[in-house]
Amino acid sequence: MKPDKETMTRISALKGWVDDGECELLYDIASQIDDHCIVEIGSYRGKSTMALALGSKAGYAVEVFAIDPQVMFESAAGTRFNGPRAKEEFFRNVVEFGVGDVVYVINLTSAQVARAWKLPIGFLFLDGDHERAVEDFRLWDPYIVEGGLLGVHDFETWEVPRLAYREALNAGYEEVERMGGLAILQKPNPRKKYIKNAKLPQWIPMVYKGPMNAPFSLRGQKSKREYYRLEKGKPISVRHEDAEFFEEQGFRQCKSESSGAVNGE
Ligand SMILES: C[S@@+](CC[C@H](N)C(=O)[O-])C[C@H]1O[C@@H](n2cnc3c(N)ncnc32)[C@H](O)[C@@H]1O
Repeated sequence: MKPDKETMTRISALKGWVDDGECELLYDIASQIDDHCIVEIGSYRGKSTMALALGSKAGYAVEVFAIDPQVMFESAAGTRFNGPRAKEEFFRNVVEFGVGDVVYVINLTSAQVARAWKLPIGFLFLDGDHERAVEDFRLWDPYIVEGGLLGVHDFETWEVPRLAYREALNAGYEEVERMGGLAILQKPNPRKKYIKNAKLPQWIPMVYKGPMNAPFSLRGQKSKREYYRLEKGKPISVRHEDAEFFEEQGFRQCKSESSGAVNGE
């Protein structure tokens, strides 16, 4: 799913090292990750993080782990950037874009985090220290699930990211998308093929229809995840237990904005 024009304008206005086309693709990919988390190596001021997080929220609201020490960094090309101001801006962006519910920031190096990592990954976006791109790929590849996606930034213009990209291809990954300096590769899995321009399921807003003597906090609330979707006519939420919880509390689906269907009345 591509971001709408207004969202794209907001992302585009941020300072960062990813261009509009790349942000659009990151958003699109993030919106399709229906299981497991998204991990970003190299967040800087959060431009790519915002694209990933907003995409995730438009899709299945999976966690986005943003891994970056966020201290002054000198790239191999001699460019010095990052530091306290950039870090401040990163957190301001998280607040202003309203993505604090899906973004988890880890202020350590990729290698430090990988040492203790345990979670399976649905999408890994590599954009950290470019001199370490191969090392990063080797550290994180074991956690990408079969059929999971890998994004390599600057794979055409920087030598080490290019080597990482080639190593992924040699390991059986298949390139499925490319935009500007960003390549998206899929880890082999015969049962899960990447679909270009995949459509997302319909999300049905929920409203409170329970007894009016329920605690006030419940009456005012929509739902923890705000939406849940129908699968074969049955409501399935991102987290199934949430749907059950909200149904028990008296929430019912309301009129679907897109289909016009009325459920649970
Ligand atoms: C090219 S910038 C990332 C750009 C960012 N994706 C954007 O949207 O603008 C590279 C980032 O990698 C971070 N970095 C440097 N060494 C790192 C390491 N060992 N692990 C994780 N991040 C690292 C730097 O602090 C810097 O913010």
